[in-house]
Amino acid sequence: MAGDILVTNIGELSTPLGFQAPRGPEAMGRVATTKDAAVLVRRGKIEYAGPAAGLPAGAASGPGLVRLDAGGRAVVPGFVDSHTHFVFAGYRDDEFLWKAAGMPYMEIHKRGGGIARSVQATRAASKAELVALGASRLKTMLALGVTTVEGKSGYGLDLDTELRQLEAMRDLQGGQPVEIVPTFLGPHSIPVEYAGRPADYIDYVIAEVLPRVAESGLARFADVFCEKGVFSVEDSRRYLIAAKRLGLGVKLHADEIERLGGAGLAAELGAASADHLLKASLEDIGRMAEAGVVAGCLPLTAFTLREPYADARAMIDSGCALAIASDLNPGSCYSQSLPLAIAIAVLYLRLTMEESLTAVTLGGAASLGLADRLGSLEPGKQGDLLVLDAPSCRFLAYNAGMNLVRNVVKRGDLVFGPAS
Ligand code: NIG
Ligand code: FE
Repeated sequence: MAGDILVTNIGELSTPLGFQAPRGPEAMGRVATTKDAAVLVRRGKIEYAGPAAGLPAGAASGPGLVRLDAGGRAVVPGFVDSHTHFVFAGYRDDEFLWKAAGMPYMEIHKRGGGIARSVQATRAASKAELVALGASRLKTMLALGVTTVEGKSGYGLDLDTELRQLEAMRDLQGGQPVEIVPTFLGPHSIPVEYAGRPADYIDYVIAEVLPRVAESGLARFADVFCEKGVFSVEDSRRYLIAAKRLGLGVKLHADEIERLGGAGLAAELGAASADHLLKASLEDIGRMAEAGVVAGCLPLTAFTLREPYADARAMIDSGCALAIASDLNPGSCYSQSLPLAIAIAVLYLRLTMEESLTAVTLGGAASLGLADRLGSLEPGKQGDLLVLDAPSCRFLAYNAGMNLVRNVVKRGDLVFGPAS
């Protein structure tokens, strides 16, 4: 997959700029807007993005060049959903209603519900079943404008099932257009076999699982749920250092429910990102900014858990690059709606429209270490873009929660929506 496409008649082209993590308010807010624009992609890479009048001579010709008339609509980069758990079996819609009626998320977790239930269902699922479930969720994401998605294991908590989840992601990569960045999340919860012994489980993961994951090449990152009642800062540190030694990038679920110091640990280890951060301290956010750790905000999770939103404004103003992602998972957030996340970012996280657009594109790419290749529409980047059924990208927030995606182009191939 690497096509040639010329998108013409773009009413408004909006894109962040840059080939590295957009750190701080200036870079997060830097969005170029061009009226009457065109984008030319050849062999999957952007050759030109700018005023239609400036298209290079001969741009409209060439064998195999597809032409797409945007009809005066808006174009933005494809969304990069940098934090999801899209490969799992079993649903927890009953728990959702218990939470809605007031039961705390961690209370459900303590009573053997929560992640443990999804682990049971995922252990019982075959790889073919996981692939089918993942494929249908990816199809929905693609229709919502996601061109790259990070996916985590973490519903196996044993060697076989963790590998099966990662293999399902590898198999899915061949059969559909959304690019998948796989993350190993073995320490997502304490499995029943290790009840009350989180440190022993971490020992097992370090000795038996991590080396197999690293040698298989099935994961690019290692992640951990660093949280009170789950994995301590010390256990998380041990595990993440072992993962780094094996060549994996590291990420954390940090300071989501209680302030434990996961954000500070992310800074200490030079993690690619620390995500959630609802309770992170300003000091730790400052450390993350200095260390270049991308701050991952997951507003749909705070929305579902009815927790106060993360202080995304302070994260950007402290100098962090910010990513906004869906956190799609069967428990704390069963939604893949980045459009809703964008509306919440503008309305409740106090981000500007420009910052919000950057957070779901270049910020997401930075969270995955891919800002040099993805996340903006500039020559040399991958040709991943969306045509919106709207006159400007502002409608992404304004027409709250609606799906405005008309076309999706991935690596220069038209993979969703009408051809004219
Ligand atoms: O990112 N916080 C931990 N992990 C997920 C929830 C997983 C689940 O409840 O199944 C999250 O919110
Ligand atoms: Fe998560």
